[in-house]
Amino acid sequence: MKRALILTGGGDCPGLNAVIRAIVKRAAKEKNWEIVGSYQSFNGVLWEPVEIKILTEEIVAGIHVRGGTILGTTNVGGPFAWPVKENDGTIKTVDRSDELIRKLQLMGIDAVINIGGDGSQRISQALFEKGLNIIGVPKTIDNDLSITDFTFGFQTAVQAATEAVDKLVTTAESHNRVLILEVMGRYAGWIALHSAIAGGAEVCLIPEIPYNIDIITKRVQRRFHRGKGFAIIVVAEGAVDKNRDRLLANKDEKGEGNISLMGAAMILKQQLKCSECEGEIRETVLGHLQRGGVPIAYDRILATQFGVKAFELVLEGKFGEMVAYQHPDVISVPIKKVIKKYNYVSLNDNLIKTARGIGICLGDQD
Ligand code: F6P
Repeated sequence: MKRALILTGGGDCPGLNAVIRAIVKRAAKEKNWEIVGSYQSFNGVLWEPVEIKILTEEIVAGIHVRGGTILGTTNVGGPFAWPVKENDGTIKTVDRSDELIRKLQLMGIDAVINIGGDGSQRISQALFEKGLNIIGVPKTIDNDLSITDFTFGFQTAVQAATEAVDKLVTTAESHNRVLILEVMGRYAGWIALHSAIAGGAEVCLIPEIPYNIDIITKRVQRRFHRGKGFAIIVVAEGAVDKNRDRLLANKDEKGEGNISLMGAAMILKQQLKCSECEGEIRETVLGHLQRGGVPIAYDRILATQFGVKAFELVLEGKFGEMVAYQHPDVISVPIKKVIKKYNYVSLNDNLIKTARGIGICLGDQD
């Protein structure tokens, strides 16, 4: 019997369970493969006692419709930077990657499938370079991984953000207010851009285009006449004023997960107030509502395609590769190529042209 270990790492994302189910179902057709799952990314292997479990078709039945991940996840630490608390309370990190590989050998693991975003795939590549048979499956609601057209979970997040814009429009209109919606997107503004176009926002601010507050104020002003009017602004959490640094919540904490970005919507509201923008201003931070819940059909299908392909890569022995979607195909690419660059919104992207074409202000020009 051969054995493949699967794990989910980084922030969770709608569609993770659909990938897990697809891997297990595809492997079941082979008869000589067993799939095991590690709890909370590699932690399940590194903990003593280990927390790994056999995943059967019975266990994964019907999980494709559920959000989150049945394996749990974490974006803290990892085998190369395992956080250890010192006696004085400070946290240092240690490299446990060799130990991890040894443990996997002892467990009779022939292949590992790592479902995760940029950080997780960097770990995959480093482990591959140490000789581990590993396959990557891309995951992120931010859609910021390069080479794949889309990651699963992204469209579900866009749907949640668009529904939020739709709701905000009705109340903004009733009260003649400026309503700011902050959506996720640390480095890439894909969720903001998609939901601003789908929902019909007046202004959309993304990390790739530093904004000028005077231009935004002017645009919002134009939406008001004799105290009437309203405006919706969608701002990505990573958006920045061209004259300011972004605020970070936990910049220096070792062993912490993502650096937390702080208050893009709140800062913008303050700036608009200072520039005497007309209309009352309120802000909404959508936060993890974009990450939780049921994946929409598109993401279930993409995740299922990724799961099947990932296991087929295992069968072909194509280790060090990551599954990717390049319309209309699901292909594989070397992980080292994927982690070289982010999938930023390019200023030449058709969606930027579309947004400008329908008069959405992107904060750099009116
Ligand atoms: O990377 C995905 C993401 O959803 C980002 O958009 C966001 O900044 C981050 O995760 C939030 O992470 P956490 O759940 O650790 O706060």
